[in-house]
Amino acid sequence: MFYVCKLDDLEIGDSIRLDQYNPPIAVIRGESGQVYAIDDTCTHAEASFCDGFVEGDTVECPLHMSVFCLKTGTPDNPPAIKGVTTHIVDIKDGEIHIEVQR
Ligand code: FES
Repeated sequence: MFYVCKLDDLEIGDSIRLDQYNPPIAVIRGESGQVYAIDDTCTHAEASFCDGFVEGDTVECPLHMSVFCLKTGTPDNPPAIKGVTTHIVDIKDGEIHIEVQR
């Protein structure tokens, strides 16, 4: 498990990009308050989800507006077709940890 940050430091709708992974991982807090970790790079044309827009528990790609489910990594609409990998998130004692699924 990799420590990301304290839960209180990631506000609803905010994200943190972990550039030490290839591809980078986006840790995003959805509007439900749930924290998700997905590969940060859009499968269509390599935009960063950390520059996107969180709505509900989805993130809209900032380039061509495909909307990805944060839970499954699946896009809901074109032009992106392929999903992104999701990673396990564990919140313990107010701290966010992720387990990378590669
Ligand atoms: S780069 Fe994400 S939809 Fe085009």
